[in-house]
Amino acid sequence: MTNGPRPALIDTDPGLDDVLALAFALQSSALEVHAITVVAGNVPLSVCTANALRVLEVFAADSPPPVYEGCAEPLSPRVCRAEHVHAADGIGGVSGAYPIRRLRPEDGHAVAATIELARRYHGNLVLIALGPLTNVAVALGRDPEAMQGIHELVVMGGSIDGTGNATPHAEFNFYSDPIAAREVVRSGLPVTLVGLNVTECALLPRARFDARVTAMTKGLRRQFLRDVAGPYFDFCKKEQGRDACALHDPLAVAAAVDPGVVRTKRIPCDVVVSQGITRGRLVAEREGGCSSAVPVRAATEVDGERFHDLFLNTVCGP
Ligand code: BDR
Ligand code: CA
Repeated sequence: MTNGPRPALIDTDPGLDDVLALAFALQSSALEVHAITVVAGNVPLSVCTANALRVLEVFAADSPPPVYEGCAEPLSPRVCRAEHVHAADGIGGVSGAYPIRRLRPEDGHAVAATIELARRYHGNLVLIALGPLTNVAVALGRDPEAMQGIHELVVMGGSIDGTGNATPHAEFNFYSDPIAAREVVRSGLPVTLVGLNVTECALLPRARFDARVTAMTKGLRRQFLRDVAGPYFDFCKKEQGRDACALHDPLAVAAAVDPGVVRTKRIPCDVVVSQGITRGRLVAEREGGCSSAVPVRAATEVDGERFHDLFLNTVCGP
């Protein structure tokens, strides 16, 4: 490992919480984001790509990392999007206020870019996966040797208690592409799973977010954060009856920035790929289990205060 910021690659399907996670990662001095790869998930691929570019125009206009488009369809039969959460434009209907002025995606494919970065930063790269794992699984299938050079693969997905948000049994990213999730979980890569079991235990109160954002001095960033977080908090209020949100994707970034934000355990895990009611379920073994499932590091506890301080101080910072 080198000193200084960790070389990072972010694979994402923006998405409201992806947008917050990208802003957080771009602002963090602990990470150097070398590329953003986009995968279809919350909304179709081109819509996700546009949102990744929007975040860069607001948060990294001077030195934006390259954006690569990846897989438009999952490896599994496609059954869902999350427009009911994120809206058709993926960012709560506010995209019209943020036309993309300057940036464009690169010509290359996300999978090739992932393999290239895994080789270039062999032994150092942290890959933070915030969407369905299609791009990552395809890269693994294409060049397993290069991908074994990844230092850490932080995945927002699943829930070690076997519960879900897409269905009662499956978290959205795993439900969207269980075949890809299973490839990754079984890969033997140094995976850190950040699942709903921890993200749902660190709800950020809307009042705290609003107060911090209001104090920001950079007007465009302040407005953008307000505009994208507003619909997300509204959704949580309407659907869950609370003035607070789980920041799923930002917590995965936080685990890469400051591993002390979560406590982890090595737990043998697998993913259900059949098309029944348990499609996409993360199956995590209890302590002392004896199956042949591959052990992965899974977050079991979260320090919510530490996470919220880190997130707000970074994303609202100078
Ligand atoms: C995950 O699902 C998506 O809708 C979010 O962006 C996040 O990655 C949470 O289950
Ligand atoms: Ca996401």
